[in-house]
Amino acid sequence: MESSRRGFVAGISAATALALSNFAGEIRANAFANAPLALKKARILFNENPLGPSPFAVSAIESSASMLGRYPLSEGPRLEMKLRKLHGLSYREASAELSLGPKPKLEGGNDLLLGIGSSEILKAVAWAYGSKSGNIVEAHPSYSAVGDAVAEIPGSQMQRKIIPLDSDNRFDTAAMIKAIDADTKIVVICNPNNPTGTTIPLAQIVSVADAIPQDALLLVDEAYIEFLPHADKVSAMELAKTRKNVLVARTFSKIFGLAGLRIGYGLGATEIIDRLRPFMLGQLSLSMAGVLAAEASMDDAQHMAKTKSLHQKTLELWTRCFHAAGWKMTPSEACFCWVNVGQDATPLVSFLAERDVLISGGRRWKLPNYVRISMGTEEENERLVAGVAAFSKT
Ligand SMILES: Cc1ncc(COP(=O)(O)O)c(C=O)c1O
Repeated sequence: MESSRRGFVAGISAATALALSNFAGEIRANAFANAPLALKKARILFNENPLGPSPFAVSAIESSASMLGRYPLSEGPRLEMKLRKLHGLSYREASAELSLGPKPKLEGGNDLLLGIGSSEILKAVAWAYGSKSGNIVEAHPSYSAVGDAVAEIPGSQMQRKIIPLDSDNRFDTAAMIKAIDADTKIVVICNPNNPTGTTIPLAQIVSVADAIPQDALLLVDEAYIEFLPHADKVSAMELAKTRKNVLVARTFSKIFGLAGLRIGYGLGATEIIDRLRPFMLGQLSLSMAGVLAAEASMDDAQHMAKTKSLHQKTLELWTRCFHAAGWKMTPSEACFCWVNVGQDATPLVSFLAERDVLISGGRRWKLPNYVRISMGTEEENERLVAGVAAFSKT
């Protein structure tokens, strides 16, 4: 069995081999990122919504064509306002006026900030809190965008304290708290965690918030939180609204299926938001199409329910599929799963890639025995299952 796998790997095309060796970051340097969707590749490697955007969003984009010559100077603030209402922030309607000037202060001490995906928020956190000295406490394997951005800031003296997940592939908050000291400037929690799909209870996040210095920031990245059946019980939104040093980041890229339009946001105390603002492009970073699509997609409960239903079916399918293959899947609550295949997963990734099923090998997290697989459409999921079954017979 082993030798036939090796034979297969030796026979993969040079282009595929190059693509597979190129995993340097989540998106950067990934040859598959450019795979045209029209090629019918099952691109189940970037944790996107395979159902795409809500039909509400699509018709908002279509009907916005005549407005594309305009800056979204009233539409952006209108989306901010809608999000403030959703998250129960105190606000004044007057702040949604057509303006590029400073925003009026909100009542209640909290605000939110729109960004070019949540990536812009994460990068601003790195620059606003990580450009001098001190340390950042993060986990591994996890989404490392903030730590990576800190490491790229010229002259930053920040030390990265990278805490391994626990034996269940969950955030080890006790170990993180031990690592936090008076010099800690940023702590990052990703809940649910990417790439493991695991979630920690809110109480553990509160204990981390209790442990950080007043001038530090706890960033809770909730890119996938909407997939949880009881997201409101797990989310740190209330914490962000009551503490001066907790920020929650969210995105329209995942459950809302708008990754291509780049809209995310951060919510926290006005002091935090004001500290991030100089590192953001601001209102002129947003596209008219993105803002209108995000706004419309918030009203489409049906699309959200459809995505969640596919998600539940996919979780069940994965569990059966990987159990049959004898692999260990970390129980996931997000739209992707983290599977230990018991040996270097590169041959599996190659085998599936040759069948136009694109998944992520664990090498990019320096965990070569793992793969991360994203939810596909039902048809894509079935192609994955068939590919895994065929691989198991080699
Ligand atoms: C945990 C997490 N946070 C943030 C992002 C960035 O997403 P976006 O910039 O599209 O909002 C991603 C993207 O995959 C992610 O997995």
